[in-house]
Order: sequence, then structure tokens, then C-alpha cells
Amino acid sequence: MNSVTVSSSASTAAVEDRVRELLDRMTLTEKVGQMSQVNVGDGPVQDFLVDDIRAGRIGSVLNTVDANVVNELQRLALEESRLGIPLLVGRDVIHGFRTVMPIPLGQAATWNPDIVQDAARVAAQEAAACGVNWTFAPMIDVARDPRWGRIAESLGEDPLLTAVLGAAMVRGFQGDTPGGQQSVAACGKHFAGYGAAESGRDYAATNIPENELRNVHLRPFKAAIDAGLCSVMTSFSDVDGVPATANSFLLRTVLREEWGFRGIAVSDWDSVKQLNVHGLTASDRDAAFEAASAGLDMEMHGDAFRHHLEDLVEQGILSPTQIDSAVANILRIKFSLGLFDRPLTTAKPEDPTTSEEALAIARESALQSIVMLKNEHRVLPLSPESTRSIALIGPLANAARDQLGTWIFDGDPALSVTPVQAIQSLLGPAATIHHVPALETTRSRQITGLDEALFAARQADVVVAFVGEEAILSGEAHSRADIHLPGAQPDLLRQLKACGKPVVAVVMAGRPLVLTDVVDDVDAILFAAHPGTMGGPAIADLLFGIESPSGKLPATFPRMVGQVPIYYAQKNTGRPPTPSSIVLIDDIDADADQLSTGMTAYHLDAGFTPLFPFGFGLSYADFEYTNLRLSAAEMRTDESLDISVDLTNTGDCVATEVVQLYVRDLVGSVTRPVRELKAFRRVRLAPGERNRVTFCLHADDLAFFDRNNRLAVEAGEFHVWVGGSSAAELKGAFVLRESEPA
Ligand code: BGC
Repeated sequence: MNSVTVSSSASTAAVEDRVRELLDRMTLTEKVGQMSQVNVGDGPVQDFLVDDIRAGRIGSVLNTVDANVVNELQRLALEESRLGIPLLVGRDVIHGFRTVMPIPLGQAATWNPDIVQDAARVAAQEAAACGVNWTFAPMIDVARDPRWGRIAESLGEDPLLTAVLGAAMVRGFQGDTPGGQQSVAACGKHFAGYGAAESGRDYAATNIPENELRNVHLRPFKAAIDAGLCSVMTSFSDVDGVPATANSFLLRTVLREEWGFRGIAVSDWDSVKQLNVHGLTASDRDAAFEAASAGLDMEMHGDAFRHHLEDLVEQGILSPTQIDSAVANILRIKFSLGLFDRPLTTAKPEDPTTSEEALAIARESALQSIVMLKNEHRVLPLSPESTRSIALIGPLANAARDQLGTWIFDGDPALSVTPVQAIQSLLGPAATIHHVPALETTRSRQITGLDEALFAARQADVVVAFVGEEAILSGEAHSRADIHLPGAQPDLLRQLKACGKPVVAVVMAGRPLVLTDVVDDVDAILFAAHPGTMGGPAIADLLFGIESPSGKLPATFPRMVGQVPIYYAQKNTGRPPTPSSIVLIDDIDADADQLSTGMTAYHLDAGFTPLFPFGFGLSYADFEYTNLRLSAAEMRTDESLDISVDLTNTGDCVATEVVQLYVRDLVGSVTRPVRELKAFRRVRLAPGERNRVTFCLHADDLAFFDRNNRLAVEAGEFHVWVGGSSAAELKGAFVLRESEPA
């Protein structure tokens, strides 16, 4: 079974019977009502809602989290509408509700589906207590452009990592089966290709060849659907000339016909009427027709469906079966969620706050999400005993709200524990802590607190600078063309370094940044994304070695923004660069001829490597990878292969390493990436401990969409690497052969 996880085929059949029975009793107005989602907003129930819900003209609402309001709306739907159909109550619960977890990009750096699932479960519990029964998450757009503000909301650049963690979020939100008291329906978004917005400018068009769409962007959606995903949301973007909201290739051919998806396809906010703005349609009526006939089931916040679908059916332009199948998809989810049986929440409006368990998960999630990018001369960890004086500098050291990141409609900054607070409590009263924000915001061009900051730095044993981006600089509609540290922060770091004390930069940001100009001005860097409510304690634990960093980058950090898109799974090209074959701009002779630079795929001024590759992240321990072994040199296309390696912690502290397996398919009917992540595992080792880590690679894991865009496993030669990043060097090879004819 592909979608909507219900406990047995008997219950599936029962749901289908109930859907059919209800559908038979519905008027066209009531059917179109189910296809309409209306924004409620704050405050008491408005009159128009009362009338429309009673008349069956609304099937779903969004953006109310007041349990009393939700209950009143549900009561109206159940008791005062003719058919008593409960409402879907939607909300963007993206990375936490009251208790805020790290932004999804941070959660992705944990490479840990278990903690990601736990974080989503907490969010679901807190949201469900307010009557929310549908979250618009996870966002599973593969994001390869750090200029794009929504990379913050993504799980990074890799289809497999996004697929595994996206599926974990689905399980966390929905529980084992949708319909549990403390679960909410999930929504995979944005279907599809939104992450490929041209130049990373949010909402811009995407141009993705079908082969790349299938091999990269669609894979996480398929995985989420296999995990039981209840709904998908269409992307705002234009996909090869047809905006996703009216794209029948995506909504009908792929989603329904190929994948057999039986959940809801909802539009993004007003994106049906935006078909006019795109220039696909000339009127709301045409837009409603295009979207509904392409296979969209529900319009989010817009009235094109409400105003035009009935007439389109009555005039014989839109088929009634089209409407019936959309409504069936919606009712199926409502039944599967158990909404007909338990529509009201028992929570009081003041109820959902955090809990010890939620805070512990937020803390663990933040701890695992932080990536150490540099640790010169092992300046970290700091000693809690001998650090007597510390300067905590920068605009994000004590920024309760900014550390939560984007999309925190319901997050409570009052719950945040900031780095300043956490370090104070960890070090206790004996240590001297100088906290100087120095800059008003991360964007400030004047370092108004420079003298005070430098004074504090000179007094201190060590300087920790909390720099990066405020929450408002990433997220929807917050793309940047220049992704350096904004404002005067690079200058602040330089001036701090000149004080002669060790400088540790803790970077909080909603995207990979270009850190090339500051990397040499600091001794150590912890990249914390926006770490959420418990960011402070997690950062303090890592700074002071209570725990070793274990996060790994889920997206490449470029040297220069002009390298974007730069991602590890690139194609080889016909002229791949090598370190020895390229000539950089400063080394070109004045009388160089046209062919003298090596003629390969690189930038004269940036080379071809990133500053930090995908999968990279340092530890306080050292990990050694040895003895890579494959259980066979060949496998058949119906077999599997064990790939194993010895991992040894040669350091002096217990630490966790994310072991990563990459593969290259050397020859394909379409060219394949130079490396593709195939598996990963977090492994915790004591000092001196050695562990044999084994991955089972099945031939199916090597399948890709071929020259005819069919999923296929092609025989041939493969290379494999195992290590601690996408630049892993320990390498093996095997040959895949066609299976024997039966
Ligand atoms: C976003 C969606 C979000 C929706 C509802 C849109 O602007 O693109 O991701 O779920 O708003 O808030």
C-alpha cells in the first residue's frame, strides 16, 4: 500500500465505504466546500465562517491555534452543517510548536532520523493540544542554493538524506498510524522542484529536466509517501513552463498514476489565482479549471475554487468525476485521521506549553545538529575549570528570539535558553563573563560597541563570538544574493582576533554562508544553524567538552557565492578539474595563451572545491577509517553486498561519528553523479575503541531513472567510498552484473 497508513486492509475498505457513502449524499456545493481551505487568523470566530461552515462551504481552515476557536469551528461543522463533516485544521508547525527545535537544516545536520522523528512528535503533541490536526511540514525540497532563504526550512542538498529524514518527520508528526490523539497529518512540500528557484530567488521559475526531477527532486516525496504521508502541497514555482499548482504531469502522472497516492494535494497560499499572475491563465475561472483538472484537491486561502468550480461543472466544462475524486481524497484523510470520531480537543487555550521531555529532545537535537568546521590547535573544548574569564561577544549571544530561526509562529522566545545564560550557569559565579553584543543586529554596519568588545576580549582567557544571521534573514521570501556574514561582523571578528586571544566563532544562520573571508580570523568555528529553544545549553555543552560535536553538513559551504550551485553530487563533465590541472587567476602568466589554464570545469578565481564539503564536520576525537572490505567483488542485480570498514576512535574522548557510504556508477545510460550518498550511520565510540561498521548495499539502492526516465538498475562498474564526509578517500570497487535468467 502506498499512502495513508491504516491498520489493515479491512479498515482501508471500511474507510473507502464511508467515503463513498458520504460522497453519494453530498451536493455539488458541499463537495466544492470540502475543496476550500479558509484562513481564520487570530481572534474570535467571524460571522462569515459561521455561515459558510453551516452551509458546508468550507472543508478546512488554517491559522488558528486557539483551542476554543477550533472547537467552536468543529462544533459548527459537526453539529450545524447538514452532513457533519469535521474540518481539517492546518498550521505551519515546521520545527516545533511552543518548544522550538533546530531549524530543519540544523536537524538535518544530525543525520539522525530518530531524533528528527522525536522532534516532530513533540511538535505534533503540542500542536494537537490546540486542535491543529494538519501541519504543513515536512519541507522536503532538495535545496542546492544557499542564497534561497528557504534552504533553512529544508533538509539540505541530498535526495537520500532528505528522504530518510523527511520520512522520519512524517512518522513523528503522524505517529504509527494517522489518527492518534497526539498526532497530526503531515504535508510534504513543495511538490515539486521549488528548491531549484533560479538564482535562489524565492518564487522564481525552475527549469529542471525530467531526468533530474526524477532522480533528485521527486525522490524524497516518494519516500515520504511510502512512510504514509497524508498530503502534499504544490510549489509556488513554474516548473518547465507549467506552474506546479496546475501541473498535471506532477499531480496526475507522477503522484496519482505512478505512485498511487491517495491523500490530499493542496495548493500553496493563493497559488491557484496566481496562475493568472504567472501568465498561464487569464481569469480566476480559468485558473480554477486548470488547477482542478490537473488534479489539485484543495485550494489554500483563495476563492477561485469556491467561486467557479460549481459553475464549471454545471456548464459541463469540468467533469464531476474530477470533483468526486478530489473530495474522496480529502474525506479519506479525514476518516483516516479519525476526525469524525474525535474532532474536539480537550485542551484549554493556556494548556500547551513545554515539558521536561520536550526540552530534553530540543536540547539533544540542538547538540547533535551543531557542526564544528574548524578547531585550530585544538582550542576547543574549553576547560570549565580553568576558564576564569570569557568574553561573549556579538549580536546572537543572547538573542532569545533569533536563535529560534524562521517559521516560529507559535514558538515561545520566553522559553529560550541563550548561550549567555547557559554559559553563566555552566561556569558558575567564580568565572568572569563579559557579554558585549557590539552590533545592534547582524546587519549593522557600525560596530557601536567596538571599544567595549575589545576591552572585554583583552581581559578574557578566550573570546566566543556569536555571529551569523538573525532569524529574519532566512525563510520564505528572504533570499540573499550575498551570503557572507552580513554587516560589520567580519570586521568585528578581525578586530577581536587582533587582541591576541583565542577566538571561537559560533555561527547561527539559516543557510550555509560564505565564510572564506573570516575563516582565518578565528581559531574555531561551530556552525549552529538556528538551534532553537535549547540552543544555549547545547552550545555550552560543546564549547566546554561536556559532549563532542557530531553534526555533519547537510549542504555544501561554497568559497564564493559565484560557485553556486555547488554540491557534492555533481556530474563529472567531459573535462573534470584536478588540483594539478588548474591554474588560478594569480598564477596566470601575463602572456598566457588561451589553452594554458588546463581547460577544465573550474573557476579561475575560486577553483573547483567548496570551503567545506557536504557531510563534513569535526569532532574532539579523531576517527580512523581502515580495512574497507566488500563481501564480494561482484553482485547480481537481484543481490546485495556488504561493505564494511573498521572505525577507530584514536582520540581521547568518547564521541560520535557519522559514517557515510558513497557510490559512483561509472557508466550509465544517463551520466551519473561523481558520488551519491547511499547510507549513513551514527556510531559512538569510547577512546581507543574500534568498531566494524557494515552497510548492506542492495542492487536496488543503485537504481536510477534511465535515459527513458524509467527506474532501472544498470549493470556495470561502481566505485565506493566510506568515510566521514563526501570527500572520503577510502575507496573500493565492485561490478554489478545482470541477474541470471530464471
Ligand atoms: C508557504 C507554505 C506555507 C503556507 C501556509 C506559504 O506562503 O509557501 O510553505 O505552508 O504559506 O502558511
